[in-house]
Amino acid sequence: MSSEPAPYGQYEDINADNRPSRFNKCLADSISTTDRIAHYDTWAKTYDEDMRSYGFTGPEIAVEYMKRYFTNTNAKYLDCGAGTGLLGVHIKELGYTDFHALDASSVALEKAKSRQAYTKFIEEFITTGKLGIETDTYDGLVCCGCFVPGHLEPDCVEDWCRIVKPGGIVFIVMNQRWLSQEPAYNEGKLEAAFQKRVDEGKWELVVREQRDKYFTNDVAEVFVFKIK
Ligand SMILES: C[S@@+](CC[C@H](N)C(=O)[O-])C[C@H]1O[C@@H](n2cnc3c(N)ncnc32)[C@H](O)[C@@H]1O
Repeated sequence: MSSEPAPYGQYEDINADNRPSRFNKCLADSISTTDRIAHYDTWAKTYDEDMRSYGFTGPEIAVEYMKRYFTNTNAKYLDCGAGTGLLGVHIKELGYTDFHALDASSVALEKAKSRQAYTKFIEEFITTGKLGIETDTYDGLVCCGCFVPGHLEPDCVEDWCRIVKPGGIVFIVMNQRWLSQEPAYNEGKLEAAFQKRVDEGKWELVVREQRDKYFTNDVAEVFVFKIK
């Protein structure tokens, strides 16, 4: 594996098969939103193995923050952009009793169901508008690996401030590279969307940290917010 960071939207062929094309396809800006989710539907079967082959540690990083901030295992939490439910293994191990999974890919959610870790499955596409979820539903929300090119728009966090109860925690685990390389997030655009909600008194930043070895040699950026 090269120690050089991979170029924008292009990961190297680590295992000499077509894994990179499966991953790179979901990043490509040439793909429509509908096709991207359809791609996740098709990819769901081998997603877990492919991501592991890249050394994806997002779920393990998320677990560290769940242990730290989601301390009431009987509270209601949302895995927002849960995909195939890689986090589910840990949710089960840690004994959470009411963790919901939301994703736009129905096939990925089917796989998440097989983990027998989540209590509710919400097939919904995240936009900058309102989700079909009641205000103040959740005690916490985790979003792992979804601030990725072509996936979530920065302002989608507006609704997260609505569906999570005051005092609840929202944390985001993402690849640091997209903060500078993804045009929708770069030049501080993603941080500005987060800061806007701080300025509006909707949430406060609890901590911003980095973890290495997130994906290939990339670094993870973790943002933790407390809803006001
Ligand atoms: C890279 S995967 C991460 C999945 C999971 N959190 C993990 O750590 O493995 C991104 C997920 O986001 C979902 N997704 C992308 N854009 C979305 C959107 N706008 N609304 C809902 N889900 C979306 C995809 O279907 C996919 O399952």
